[in-house]
Amino acid sequence: MIKGVVAGLGLFLLCGSAFADEAALKAQAAQLTGAYAKELQATMAGALAKGGPLGALDICNKQAPKIASDLSKSSGWSIGRTSLKPRNAASTPDDYERKVMENFDARLARGEKPDTLVSAAVVEGKDGKLFRFMKAIPTGAICLTCHGANVAPELKQKISQLYPSDQATGFKLGDLRGAFTLKKVLDGAGD
Ligand code: HEC
Repeated sequence: MIKGVVAGLGLFLLCGSAFADEAALKAQAAQLTGAYAKELQATMAGALAKGGPLGALDICNKQAPKIASDLSKSSGWSIGRTSLKPRNAASTPDDYERKVMENFDARLARGEKPDTLVSAAVVEGKDGKLFRFMKAIPTGAICLTCHGANVAPELKQKISQLYPSDQATGFKLGDLRGAFTLKKVLDGAGD
């Protein structure tokens, strides 16, 4: 027992600062994700109220990528959304994102709550170390209008005009729709 504590303390002294950095990065990523989600939600709610689903489609098409790029610029992180069945081809996952979402899907199927589906890790990328953060996006009732199994024909038509390779329909309530995905390049200084 005491041995365990001493060993644990040694490990903490060795790695404590790396853990602390990771915890701080994770907290920052979670906060940015919250801000991003809130802005997307507000934009979507306003657009639906003003122009119904057809009007909201146009706004989502123009605003969703802009919200992500503005927040990326102001924060210094790369911020976006991805999905195993993307609507916008630009949201196609990389291998890392695909694996994390497959894991989220499996955990959701085992009954875990969507809110707990979060992943954070330091990974080795082509350009050095990256901190990567992902958070699951579940399918809510309102999402089914544009992502469900019975999308209205005029909506469907407009979606395929805007997104010829759309895969993001056929979702059911509670399905994993996708994930927020954040990246930050770590310069490695001080390691
Ligand atoms: C009015 C139609 C509409 C509604 C309602 C809607 N979406 Fe979307 N969704 C879109 C469009 C259009 C895009 C593509 C945006 C872009 O070009 O980046 C999209 C993209 C996404 C993406 C990004 C990944 C991808 O597939 O390109 C996620 C994740 C997503 N939606 C989740 C949701 C969730 C969750 C809800 C419910 C809270 C929802 N959507 C409601 C139209 C809609």
